[in-house]
Amino acid sequence: MPTADTAAIRLGVNIDHIATLRNARGTPYPSVVAAALASQANGADGITAHLREDRRHVKDADLFDLKAAISLPLNMEMANTDEMVAIALTLQPHMVTLVPERREELTTEGGLDVITHQAALTRSTQALTDAGIRVSLFIEPDNAQVDASKAIGAELVEFHTGKYCHQHLAGDPTGSELQRLHAAAQYAVDSGVIVNAGHGLTQDNVGPVLSLPGLYELNIGHAIVADAVVMGMGEAVATMNRLLKQGR
Ligand code: PXP
Repeated sequence: MPTADTAAIRLGVNIDHIATLRNARGTPYPSVVAAALASQANGADGITAHLREDRRHVKDADLFDLKAAISLPLNMEMANTDEMVAIALTLQPHMVTLVPERREELTTEGGLDVITHQAALTRSTQALTDAGIRVSLFIEPDNAQVDASKAIGAELVEFHTGKYCHQHLAGDPTGSELQRLHAAAQYAVDSGVIVNAGHGLTQDNVGPVLSLPGLYELNIGHAIVADAVVMGMGEAVATMNRLLKQGR
């Protein structure tokens, strides 16, 4: 198994919020496929998309378009429902990350409780694994959740970094939440479970996370899309301005 000591940390780019921008006006642009291809061309190691029950950002067709267009591994984030498992079995992404989902939440606000939902998660993990799809469980950095994830046969876990990000923002980048991530990552590695992490990560707060033991992949979305908007603004204005000035 790759570890932080022997392999570079993989970057999974979450393109959900390209779709958020597109859906705001019902336009065909910005294209999630174009954003994924730009990520691929610039060193991303994977593309992640979360098909939510309410389809508020990526739609079913986006996932199939992505699968056909990219050569990178596709990670489908989804709730553990029969509908989503059926879509995943048809889509055949490289990996599924099972996440908790509540309709009213702004984003995925906590990790799965694998202990409470063990039976239902076991069924889906088994079905997906049997179909050759890797399964990751999005959990809080907690040893009991790691144990439960391993017990139900998940190959990977993704630690929710949201609380760490809040603590970082409050001026305590190396506080209890980073320590919690460290301890749980070490525990997972020692247990033979591959460690991913993500949620709320930015250029500003990602640094301390990079030293998590055995860290395999980070999934980062909102901040990359936000940076793309600002960093790309100059070129977009310059290009439009050129079109206008050349027009007469
Ligand atoms: N990982 C998981 C499991 C998620 O649900 C999300 C948000 O969809 C992310 C990573 C990416 O979070 P962010 O958009 O805050 O970078």
